Amino acid sequence: MRKWLKIALLDLLLLLLIGMEYHCAETKMVQNRDVEAEIDTFGEGTVSQTTPKKIALTFDDGPSAIYTTRLLDGLRKRGVHATFFLLGEKVEQYPDIVRTMYEDGHLIGNHTYSHMQLTSANMDRFEEELRKTDEAVYAITGEHTEYVRPPYGIWNKRYEEDLNMLPVLWNVDPKDWCTPDAGTVITRITEHAEENAIILLHDCYASSVEAALRVVDILQAQGYEFVTVDELIME
Ligand code: NI
Repeated sequence: MRKWLKIALLDLLLLLLIGMEYHCAETKMVQNRDVEAEIDTFGEGTVSQTTPKKIALTFDDGPSAIYTTRLLDGLRKRGVHATFFLLGEKVEQYPDIVRTMYEDGHLIGNHTYSHMQLTSANMDRFEEELRKTDEAVYAITGEHTEYVRPPYGIWNKRYEEDLNMLPVLWNVDPKDWCTPDAGTVITRITEHAEENAIILLHDCYASSVEAALRVVDILQAQGYEFVTVDELIME
């Protein structure tokens, strides 16, 4: 074969490969509502390459006696894992709920012992609260809390080295604690939901639990996959 022909054929092959690569990249961005169309056009092989958009539900201030149990039941039914930032004092109060939460595969994080707000005057006590909460969780699950939701979002980097804990903030805040209306909470979440978002909720209100479960149904139908925050942070 002539040399120029060989080069031309190689170039053509390369172009084809690049074309396929582009196609895959585009396919990955296809949202779930288009998946039906994808099945018709490209067959199952292409669908399996579609990466769902990841999103995380996080719940602070629990566990709470009634609502956390209701939430865990609903999440289990939907096969969804969430992240719970627990208060140490409530962990000691409801160890069975924490055990169920852990066994169900949820990620358990630290929200201090008594919902302490960090100030320049209480840095050591804040650290103690993080340790105490970690110990309370460890006694139940055998695992340390690696992630912290600092109350009011106030944090100091020194704890990352001292305690080997990472702060996790949020980017969707429906302010669920100031409305008893689940519909309002749902709208505030779905309007701001996006890939890799971290949603802040509290599992101590009936309306928040109801909203969370309905949000799961709505966003799953839009192609979202609910993951624990470590899956978003590690990327
Ligand atoms: Ni809180």
